[in-house]
Amino acid sequence: MSPTFTASAPAKVNLLLRCGQPDEKGYHQLFTVFHSLNLRETVSLTPREDGKITVTNQPADPSQSAITCPPELDELPAEKHLAVRAVKLIQDTYGIKTGADLVVTKAVPVAGGMAGGSADAAAALWAAKHAFGLSVPKVELLPLARQLGADVPACLLGEILLGTGYGDHLKLLGPVPQRYWVMATNQTGLSTPLVFQQADRHPEQLAAELPTELSEAELKLLQGTDSSDTWTDFLELLENDLTLPALELRPDLAAPLAGVNALKDVDQQPLTRAILSGSGPTLAAPALDLPSAQKIAQTFQTYPGIERCYILQGPVPGAQLH
Ligand code: C5P
Repeated sequence: MSPTFTASAPAKVNLLLRCGQPDEKGYHQLFTVFHSLNLRETVSLTPREDGKITVTNQPADPSQSAITCPPELDELPAEKHLAVRAVKLIQDTYGIKTGADLVVTKAVPVAGGMAGGSADAAAALWAAKHAFGLSVPKVELLPLARQLGADVPACLLGEILLGTGYGDHLKLLGPVPQRYWVMATNQTGLSTPLVFQQADRHPEQLAAELPTELSEAELKLLQGTDSSDTWTDFLELLENDLTLPALELRPDLAAPLAGVNALKDVDQQPLTRAILSGSGPTLAAPALDLPSAQKIAQTFQTYPGIERCYILQGPVPGAQLH
């Protein structure tokens, strides 16, 4: 029996997402900060001799109804599954004749703006590298990760990253303090291409030019220790240019955003700033401490349509072997 190789990769939230104009492929230049979270997709790979690649999806915790594998995922033809495409790309790139049986354990909500599919691809690349005995460092896998999707490099590297280009050219920004993030998932998914297409209907709101670096002041706020004195300034950093187009498609997201944004701390300062996670519909809000995170989660949960709140922490390592 062949040994099984298991790797995992993290979900993410975009703490900052500025969107530029689309190019001829319809893809947008981005200026974004990826912040990895301690919710991980896991891919187990058992080599098979005939070169074929199969995939099975399973929920991370079957008792949690919110983490189900939606039927769409099981109906997805295997060759379109990002974990399968990742292993195929490794086979083609390195001339590997061995195949793989993959088991993808899904913890990250599907179609939620937290890069669950991209994390599958990153974990599969890492499992395949080990299973097929390739002595390539992580950075050498970045061009392959880019071919699989704009968020896959960020899931491979984890931690906290500045993303430029399509969001797939990355620079490590750490170390930063561990922060709490409340992630409120939605009962109904939202298609990423549709949100970008909606953004294109307001070209005047897309940046003509994007910066290539964070300012010194922004970096200091990211990297500095959090306290009630600096928290409001840190919150000012958070923004997402996809919010407006996503709200046009999904007006129901406005109420939970406004409700959480109205929360105040004991000094009547904002408790948090709620933003769209990536292209949504998941909403995200950072918290200074666990009681604040719990209060934010309780508030999100009072709104219809919110499925589940995760209280997560990060940054965390990228793809790793188990
Ligand atoms: O790269 P990925 O397949 O994850 O992207 C999903 C969709 O998001 C693309 O089809 C495109 O519509 C949009 N996108 C974009 N610009 C980016 C990244 C993604 O327009 N930089």
